[in-house]
Amino acid sequence: MKFADLEMKNPIVIASGPVTATIDQLKEAEKNGAAAVSIKQVMTRQSFRGNLRAYSVPEEVIIFPIDKRLDVEEGLALTRQAKEQTSLVVMVNLSSQEKDIEEYGRLAKRFEDVGADAIEINMCCPNFSLSKRQLGMDITEEDIETGAITGQNPKLAGEIVKVIKDYVKIPVIPKLTPTALDIGAVAEGCVRNGADGLSLVGGPSLAAPPVDIYNGGLPLYPLMDPGAFGAINGSAIRYATFKVTGQVAQRVSVPLVSSGGIDTWEHAIQMMMWGASAVSMCTSIMWRGFEVVDRIRKGMEQFLEAQGYHSYDEIVGLSLKHISSSDHLGLRPGYAQIDPAKCRNCGICTKPGHCNAVVQEQHYCRVIPERCLGCSVCVGLCPTRAITMVEAQE
Ligand SMILES: Cc1cc2nc3c(=O)[nH]c(=O)nc-3n(C[C@H](O)[C@H](O)[C@H](O)COP(=O)(O)O)c2cc1C
Repeated sequence: MKFADLEMKNPIVIASGPVTATIDQLKEAEKNGAAAVSIKQVMTRQSFRGNLRAYSVPEEVIIFPIDKRLDVEEGLALTRQAKEQTSLVVMVNLSSQEKDIEEYGRLAKRFEDVGADAIEINMCCPNFSLSKRQLGMDITEEDIETGAITGQNPKLAGEIVKVIKDYVKIPVIPKLTPTALDIGAVAEGCVRNGADGLSLVGGPSLAAPPVDIYNGGLPLYPLMDPGAFGAINGSAIRYATFKVTGQVAQRVSVPLVSSGGIDTWEHAIQMMMWGASAVSMCTSIMWRGFEVVDRIRKGMEQFLEAQGYHSYDEIVGLSLKHISSSDHLGLRPGYAQIDPAKCRNCGICTKPGHCNAVVQEQHYCRVIPERCLGCSVCVGLCPTRAITMVEAQE
């Protein structure tokens, strides 16, 4: 398949993060079938140094306010190694911290010269001045206005794309923050200025961890005091990433690569149906290792074959025709129905606070169709899957 002129053996890109910071990790990515990697963010100047600290709940979320970024020389060395020692498509996730916007172009060119296949402009990281701004803290001359701050501003984002396009021939793929007022407008600004593709992630971009209620409310980040708001990733943002992908796919026609809570091959296929041409993951690899990539790849291939699709292109954006605004919804009349043979009469389905349609009888629960709103909340509550939604007969 092709993604923004890049030849890829499949749509799987390992997302920029602590899983793409060393050559050994990139080799693992290749061994497990990834087509491409986006290396850990490269910065011209580090606004803070320190290793990864995170609040992590597997299957749910990782919130991290700090991670080790690559210096330019480290990034160049990794890119060179990746091109010499793997056959991966190598994207370089970078941002400039210099006042002169031309530095974006000069930096990108240095990476093109050592063999990078594409530039992924980091317009998404919220751990710089975005987090300070959200706390109402003063932004000083020393503060580095980069990452998500650039991705919130359609004009600035477009200007950065244009600068980089003037310096390099390889594809330029801005990675946008979901915190923008209208990410669609930022996407359009980037595409107008020559972006070859877009990298998306669902929001919100920042979150706060829970706190230790028995220890004065200390944020539950291990080995850190004080804490900070941190970038939120993993399963918690999957639905938001579906939405952002569908939103941007409606607004621009360049290919999209989406990351945010992809944990299984089903999630990856769903993301593509929402409009992504490629899928990307970081947190699931942090939880389960690179084997998860192999599982997702195989599952996606088997799905395509079993369903009679001949290429990934055939599924990209399939869901878009099924989406509109709330004032255009077509609601089919219907109600919940309980199968008495499966019902254990536990009464859980009678609990929802917004519903008075389910009654508990002597041996099983029963829905009164005339009272049922048709919302389907009870379906997911039933421990024996005895409830289904049925259409009302005319
Ligand atoms: C610890 C950590 C570090 C990350 N570092 C970067 C980074 O350097 N550059 C970047 O663009 N995205 C970074 N990300 C975001 C991921 O690339 C990805 O877009 C996001 O985590 C959503 O995908 P996921 O839910 O599969 O992790 C990082 C994510 C995590 C969890």
